Amino acid sequence: MAVDPLIELHDVNKFYGKLHVLQDINLTVGRGEVVVVIGPSGSGKSTLCRTINRLETIESGRISIDGRPLPEEGKGLARLRAEVGMVFQSFNLFAHKTVLANVSLAQLKVRKRNKGEADRRSRELLERVGLVGQADKFPAQLSGGQQQRVAIARALAMDPKALLFDEPTSALDPEMINEVLEVMQQLAREGMTMVVVTHEMGFARSAANRVVFMADGRIVEDRTPEDFFTAPESDRAKDFLSKILKH
Ligand SMILES: Nc1ncnc2c1ncn2[C@@H]1O[C@H](COP(=O)(O)OP(=O)(O)OP(=O)(O)O)[C@@H](O)[C@H]1O
Ligand SMILES: [Mg+2]
Repeated sequence: MAVDPLIELHDVNKFYGKLHVLQDINLTVGRGEVVVVIGPSGSGKSTLCRTINRLETIESGRISIDGRPLPEEGKGLARLRAEVGMVFQSFNLFAHKTVLANVSLAQLKVRKRNKGEADRRSRELLERVGLVGQADKFPAQLSGGQQQRVAIARALAMDPKALLFDEPTSALDPEMINEVLEVMQQLAREGMTMVVVTHEMGFARSAANRVVFMADGRIVEDRTPEDFFTAPESDRAKDFLSKILKH
């Protein structure tokens, strides 16, 4: 299948002081593709996500989204952040705003929709993540799983070209993990382009087109889930899998 590249990283290098945190990263994510990124703590997974929507700068290499290089600053950067949504481990909702207002806010400010239009879209998205009945509540009145689904609805409200997820379920109690993964599975089925850092291997197996395994700032393997889980090539990946699949 010919890939229609949406996210492209070429020879990307990033340092934190002397720490070479991303080393010669080459990665292409095709439109509609779901790429799961796994690897040991400190391997650079979060940094990789953060460079893609330019929350972090890079020292060398090129990153482009939909054929355009990442903008440096200003309007282009705001547009990029709208085009590439991010969902974090901590949901980062505004505590003093209702669920509806949280989902509508950036639509008003960034997309310049009027309030009626934004709220209508927000209700549609809340319906999609199973939370339309909670629209008038405040974040603290929701469970962690519900708050994370609000955060996903908020990201979707920008009509993003791609979504990045950085361990979206790792702050959740076990019984809430599935409700978030199900929403993500649904997005994957609908063709959303997604880069997902997660330890949920079930999700990786069922939703990912590719698994990218990172260690020490490098991409060590980039393969289909089937290949990766049944026959990891590198010792690092074998070691990692034996640890996480044990529990
Ligand atoms: N702002 C920063 N300043 C300096 N070093 C940093 C900074 N952020 C991350 N690092 C270091 O960069 C390396 C990669 O960090 P990163 O958070 O990307 O790893 P990770 O794979 O996401 O790990 P984890 O699984 O624990 O989330 C680590 O050694 C980390 O300590
Ligand atoms: Mg991380």
